[in-house]
Amino acid sequence: MRVAVLASGGGTNLQALLDACRGGAPARVVLAASDRADAGALTRARDAGVETAIVSDPRDGEGLGRMLDGAELVVLAGYLKLVPEPVVQRFAGRMINIHPALLPAFGGKGMYGRRVHEAVLRSGATVSGATVHLVDAEYDRGPIVAQWPVPVLDGDTPDTLAARVLEAEHCLLPAVVLAAARAGRVVRLRPPSAAFVPAGEGDDVARAIERLEP
Ligand code: GRF
Repeated sequence: MRVAVLASGGGTNLQALLDACRGGAPARVVLAASDRADAGALTRARDAGVETAIVSDPRDGEGLGRMLDGAELVVLAGYLKLVPEPVVQRFAGRMINIHPALLPAFGGKGMYGRRVHEAVLRSGATVSGATVHLVDAEYDRGPIVAQWPVPVLDGDTPDTLAARVLEAEHCLLPAVVLAAARAGRVVRLRPPSAAFVPAGEGDDVARAIERLEP
């Protein structure tokens, strides 16, 4: 499955995807595009030999649609611009976004990066996590495809919580993309019933994600 990734930032989710799509994986990142020429995500793509592009006008649906045309699946991995409606329609059911909280909570316009984790901590929530959802015309509102919960621990700061959620993101996003590649379409996944994984047990998260079933 040919995957195009849109990213505005450092690209650690793109990197997790590049790492998961090596060898004989059924998915391949064919394009990484950004609205920011200096995005670390573009450097990661170039280092992996993946074509890159600059989204010079994020509101230009025609141009963005043409840019993404060769892709079977579009992944928003830290892309901070709203995708124009015509592009959302063109990729209906084939465009996903990853968000660092358990949507529909702690999502929507302006809820990105550190602000998300600050809001989670302010709320007193004892659980946060990562969400992959289908993209529609509004920020973070499309149907949920997969989620992975992580505990909010006493003494957590926005940075320690962000790091724990990011670790789950780096497993969840590749799991969703590989499952879609195997099925030929985006499929919903759910974690095993014992959803909690001890904080910082990265390998356990990866192994547990392996057990995700449609
Ligand atoms: C991630 O936390 C993702 O959930 C959000 O933006 C961030 C991107 O981080 N949408 P990176 O650029 O992939 O490191």
